Amino acid sequence: MARKQKFDIVIVGGLGHVGLPLGLSFANQGLNVCLYDINKERAEQVLSGQMPFIEYGAKPILKKVLRNKNLHTSLDISVVSQTKYIIIAIGTPIDEYLNPKVRAFLELFADLKKFINNQQIIIIRSTVYPRTCQQLTNILNKKNGPWHIAYCPERIVQGYAIKELKELPQLVSGLTPLAQAKAAKLFSLLSSKTIKVSIEEAELAKLFSNAWRYIQFAIANQFYMVAHDFGVKYDQVRQAMIEGYGRAATLPSAGFTAGPCLLKDTMQLVSFNRNNFLLGQAAMMINEGLPNFIVEELRKKHDLSKKKVGILGMTFKADIDDIRDSLSYKLGKILRFHGTKVFYSDEFAKDPTFISKEKLIASSDIVIIGVPHSNYKKVSIPPKVHVIDLWNIIKKGTK
Ligand SMILES: NC(=O)c1ccc[n+]([C@@H]2O[C@H](COP(=O)([O-])OP(=O)(O)OC[C@H]3O[C@@H](n4cnc5c(N)ncnc54)[C@H](O)[C@@H]3O)[C@@H](O)[C@H]2O)c1
Repeated sequence: MARKQKFDIVIVGGLGHVGLPLGLSFANQGLNVCLYDINKERAEQVLSGQMPFIEYGAKPILKKVLRNKNLHTSLDISVVSQTKYIIIAIGTPIDEYLNPKVRAFLELFADLKKFINNQQIIIIRSTVYPRTCQQLTNILNKKNGPWHIAYCPERIVQGYAIKELKELPQLVSGLTPLAQAKAAKLFSLLSSKTIKVSIEEAELAKLFSNAWRYIQFAIANQFYMVAHDFGVKYDQVRQAMIEGYGRAATLPSAGFTAGPCLLKDTMQLVSFNRNNFLLGQAAMMINEGLPNFIVEELRKKHDLSKKKVGILGMTFKADIDDIRDSLSYKLGKILRFHGTKVFYSDEFAKDPTFISKEKLIASSDIVIIGVPHSNYKKVSIPPKVHVIDLWNIIKKGTK
C-alpha cells in the first residue's frame, strides 16, 4: 500500500467495540492505523496497553502493535486528512421511542467535510438506516465529488471480533466502483472472502441478519412461555426436538435477548418499512416482555414485597463485560416496583453496588440467572432457594 500519507487508515469511533478490534486487526497486518475518538479516557487506556473492554485475543495484539508503533490514537478530527482510508465505526442508536437516531451520524459527515477530499476512500462500518450512504453525498459537497464511499457492515459477535474478522466473509459495497474495489482490497488483508453487493443489498443484509437472529430468539422465548403455562419445561421439549433432527437444530434456548444491536436493528427495519414489520414488532414484544413474564410468574407464588431476589449476571450476553441495554436491569426495576429487595452480581462487569455471587446466593430467597456466564456452571445453590434459570446452566440437584 502506498505510504504517501501519515496513516494507512483512520478509524472514526476507533475506540469502540467495533472500531478497536478492527483497528488492531489492520495494525496487526502491518498497516499504520490511527484510532480517532472523542473518548479521552479510553485513548489513554489503550495507549498504556490496556483493553477498555473484554475482547478475546486482543491484548497481545495491542501490546505488539504499540511496540511496533503502528497503532496511534487521536482526539482531533483533522487527523482524517492524513490518510488514504477513513473507516466510520461510531454508534447508530435508536431513541427511547425506538426510532433511528441518524442525526449524529449525518452531523459527523458535516464535520468531516472540512478535512476530507475525493481522493480518499470512506468506508462505513457502522450499521446504518437504509439510504444513509446515499444521503451522505448530499451532505458532502457534490461538486467536490465523486465521493468514494463504501459500505462494509460489521458482522462480528461482540467479544470475539479478533477471531471472527479472520473467519467471516466481508460484505463490500460502494457508491463508486473505485470505492468498492479499494474496500475489497483492504478487507482482503483480514478475511479470505469478500462478497461484492450493491449498497442497498448491504444495507438490508446487515439489518436482515440482526432481525433474523432477534426473531429466532423471540420464537424460543415464546415457546418457553407457552411450555411454562402448560406445566412443561421448554428446555426438555427443545432437547427432544433437536436430538437427531437437523431441521430443528438451530432452535435457540430461551433467555434474555438484549444488547445494543439486535433490538435496535430490528427497529430500524420497522421504521424503514413504514412501521410495518409485524414479525420484528412481535419479536420485540416477546423479548422485551420476558422480564415481565418472569415477575408475573413469581408473583403467583410469592409476595414479592417480602422477598429478596438476586440477579446473577448483568451483562447483555455471556462472558463479556458490556451492560448496554441488558434486560437484567429491566428485571431488577420491575421487581423493585413490586417492593422487592434486589441484589445484583456479575462476573465481568464492575459496579460498586454489585455483590459477589456467593453473597448474593446466601442473601436471596429467589435467584434469577440474568445471563449464563460460564462460571455459573460451577455455582451451587441451596435447595430452599427458588431458582429461575432459563438457560438451564445451574447444576442439576442444586436448585
Ligand atoms: N458491538 C457490536 O458487537 C457490533 C457488531 C456489529 C455492528 N455494530 C455496529 O457498529 C457500530 C458501532 O457500535 P459499537 O458497539 O462499536 O459502539 P461503541 O459505542 O462501542 O463505539 C462507538 C465509538 O464511537 C465513538 N464516537 C461517538 N461519536 C463520535 C464522534 N462524533 N467522533 C469520533 N468518535 C465518536 C465513541 O466514543 C465510541 O468509542 C454501530 O452502528 C453498531 O450497530 C456493533
